[in-house]
Amino acid sequence: MATDKLIIFDTTMRDGEQSPGASMTRDEKLRIARQLERMKVDVIEAGFPASSNGDFEAVRAIANVVKDSTVAGLCRANDKDIQRGIDALKGAKSWRIHTFIATSALHMDKKLRMTPEQVLEQAILAVRYAKNACPDVEFSPEDGSRSDPDFLCRVLEAVIRQGATTINIPDTVGYAVPEQFGEMIRRLRERVPNSDQAMWSVHCHNDLGMAVANSLAAVRIGGARQIECTVNGLGERAGNTSLEEVVMAVRTRRDFFGLETRIDTTQIVPASRLVSQITGFVVQPNKAVVGANAFAHASGIHQDGVLKARETYEIMTAEDVGWSTNKIVLGKLSGRTAFRQRLKELGIELENEEGYNKAFQRFKDLADKKAEIFDEDLQALVAQEAGTTGEEEWGLVSMSQGSSTADKPHAAILMRHNGSEVKAEGKGDGPVDATFKAIESVARSGAELLLFSVNAVTQGTESQGEVTVRLARGGRIVNGVGADTDIIVASAKAYISALNKLASKMERLNPQHQP
Ligand code: KIV
Ligand code: ZN
Repeated sequence: MATDKLIIFDTTMRDGEQSPGASMTRDEKLRIARQLERMKVDVIEAGFPASSNGDFEAVRAIANVVKDSTVAGLCRANDKDIQRGIDALKGAKSWRIHTFIATSALHMDKKLRMTPEQVLEQAILAVRYAKNACPDVEFSPEDGSRSDPDFLCRVLEAVIRQGATTINIPDTVGYAVPEQFGEMIRRLRERVPNSDQAMWSVHCHNDLGMAVANSLAAVRIGGARQIECTVNGLGERAGNTSLEEVVMAVRTRRDFFGLETRIDTTQIVPASRLVSQITGFVVQPNKAVVGANAFAHASGIHQDGVLKARETYEIMTAEDVGWSTNKIVLGKLSGRTAFRQRLKELGIELENEEGYNKAFQRFKDLADKKAEIFDEDLQALVAQEAGTTGEEEWGLVSMSQGSSTADKPHAAILMRHNGSEVKAEGKGDGPVDATFKAIESVARSGAELLLFSVNAVTQGTESQGEVTVRLARGGRIVNGVGADTDIIVASAKAYISALNKLASKMERLNPQHQP
């Protein structure tokens, strides 16, 4: 098979963000966009501009800074949404309008309450409107894998005639199986008379754990040449196709796929860590490519084999995907220049001088507690920085807590609330419980704690603990993340960060839910 190019379309900041609790601020999205650009993703779907003013601003900011990737925005198939997309994206060097409408009988009838003819008409009008402003238009028939192929062919032929340059077939509910899905794409390309005038793409969800397999079958059997995916497979329900898995599958099995991507694979692990730190979605240790154990050879037989010849048990190297193998980078005596240089090497850019000064101060505080500072520590430290502008409703000033086998644990916390200081105390079943009760005694959020998880940032007992707290209130779910060498302090930071997210008005529409 001749070598060919596979386009990687990342939707971490749109479909990934639709996952409950994964919502990101404008600044967080900007940091992720820069990392995706550094990783050489072809298309970055930056958001759904009509969902909220916040998302519109985030998409616009990304469109204005990204130069080496196309920036896309999702729009429902109506003029208002598409115009919002055009307004957010038009400053970009290269931009794409991605418009969609459901085409399965179930979605048209029950969700849209439209006839197939109305859907066809709306798809045509939407692509025509988008094409007037933007040469690069992608069309997706939502729930495509469960749509009637005859109707799908009519819609796709019509939108290509209107100028759609990419046709993306979604497996919206993760229902497809690889061979069948690959065949479906092949048949569609065969049957749609003008199919050669568009790039064919797939967008799979992982409800049955087959998103990556389905995407690769669509490429191999169906001839698709764009895969839509997310970092860490983040996404609604069981998530989307995982970017790192498709990229490394195509690269490691070049003999089979005969395809090339533009991705700089050494940026995969930094991207994975960044997305995990920002969203609070922890990566499972045995996750392919980016899990902590993905390259750990624990069993004696494997270790022996790897030492004799790496290829006995390793099909790719940890370095290929950007594992930095716990490098000690800085210590207590490191100065501002060394600190800044290492951030630069890690691809971390802060917004302004004040950001660097604050991050450096936090680094010095950390170096007082921890002799060796690793790359992972710096990444956690900078991730924290984003949530500490001082403008949030709540902040942690200081805290102490005590626990013994004889008495109930107790926590005393000094918090900042809209600029003034407030004291809080609480007792609980454990030190974390006491800390959260103390915070709640003054915050009175009434939120329900859905998740509390702790991860070590590096190895050893000196490691920083990274805590994720997930809170729910009134149907809204948010994640807060905190890191510190003291896991109780990290827990307090994570809880406070979640409270601040609950307080912020980040209400967004989900593009696929009918109002
Ligand atoms: O899953 C889906 O169908 C989507 C479309 C909007 C592309 O995310
Ligand atoms: Zn989707």
